[in-house]
Amino acid sequence: MKIAILGFGVVGRGAYEAILHHACGVQVKRILDLRVPEGMEDVVTTDYNTILNDPEIEAVAEAIGGLHPAYEYITRAIDAGKHVVSANKHLICHYYRDLHERAAARGVDLRFTPSVGGGIPWLMNLRRTKRCDRILSLCGIMNGTTNYILDSMLTRGIDFSDALKEAQALGYAEADPSADIDGLDVQRKCAISASIAFDAVLTEEDVPTFGIRHITKEDVARFDAMGYVCKLMAFAEERDGRITASVEPYLLPKTATEGAVRTNFNCITLVGERVGRLSFIGQGAGSAPTGMALAEDLIDIATANGKTPVSLTPAVIDGTIRPHMYYVRTSAKLPSACILHRMEQAIITKPMTPADIHALYTTIQATDPDAFIAGLDPDVASDARLC
Ligand code: HSE
Repeated sequence: MKIAILGFGVVGRGAYEAILHHACGVQVKRILDLRVPEGMEDVVTTDYNTILNDPEIEAVAEAIGGLHPAYEYITRAIDAGKHVVSANKHLICHYYRDLHERAAARGVDLRFTPSVGGGIPWLMNLRRTKRCDRILSLCGIMNGTTNYILDSMLTRGIDFSDALKEAQALGYAEADPSADIDGLDVQRKCAISASIAFDAVLTEEDVPTFGIRHITKEDVARFDAMGYVCKLMAFAEERDGRITASVEPYLLPKTATEGAVRTNFNCITLVGERVGRLSFIGQGAGSAPTGMALAEDLIDIATANGKTPVSLTPAVIDGTIRPHMYYVRTSAKLPSACILHRMEQAIITKPMTPADIHALYTTIQATDPDAFIAGLDPDVASDARLC
């Protein structure tokens, strides 16, 4: 199968290398990019019509990122009868229904395994598991940049800003790293994963989100001294057709599976009614792993492997399903009704829903914009020191 890669940046190059060395019936005929590298004039083009109008090109691999012009490129490819694979979680999340409807109407395949978990075959195994099981919940670390930052602050004691600079230099961060550190990247990945898991479309707005922008070295050291580690985690759960999803920094015992996840690695877990807990761990960001996942999707299309039906029913959201306690480090005065325990510079809240904790955070921000909030894992919440 002859294909084109759109965008020759971190992910596009990774996919190109993977296909070059392990072709498996896929051949890169064209690459679309604004710059034409020396020696690649035969392959790289700046004119998308060269790709669109080439009947030999059966699939395009989108690795541009952002909503536009990636959306226009993808929809034009679908309309031209070409299969599409994409690493672009922003685009897939934002246009989930639209892209699936277009692809179904045109009879082409739409795959986006690298959009969640980088090199981890998470989405394709989620789909695979779902064929004969019911997914009860999913959770995990879905962002390589923030895991790299949190891990570096813990293990090397470096500042947040220095760790972020390193993650950017290593090609893990988004063009605008706010998407990573404010949790928006995980919000989109969580919505995509939950939409597949529960056969119901979740949008970004359905996933209340906190990021790690305000975590300090002192927070990390305080958690470490108590035997805990902070990770940016996504959660989604279905009960009787109602769904709850959220993204938040989360305190776990160091001995938890996620607590031991290092550098840019992700760890994503599903709980199935029959299979129980299945965890997937691997590099969640970076050129070679993410590019390889893009190449894998192309090979799956070429070999007609693992095509599964998709439901586009809107999700019924219920934010009351998973209330839990929170660590809140702030100088703001908090209503005593929400406080379970006072610590030196922080408080532990009583169990709260995502709506409750977000409302509290909005109030706090008016006087303390640098406040930091993290959910507590049940093993942390049961610690007698916090009760
Ligand atoms: N910025 C993303 C991350 C890239 O750090 O996980 C992979 O989706």
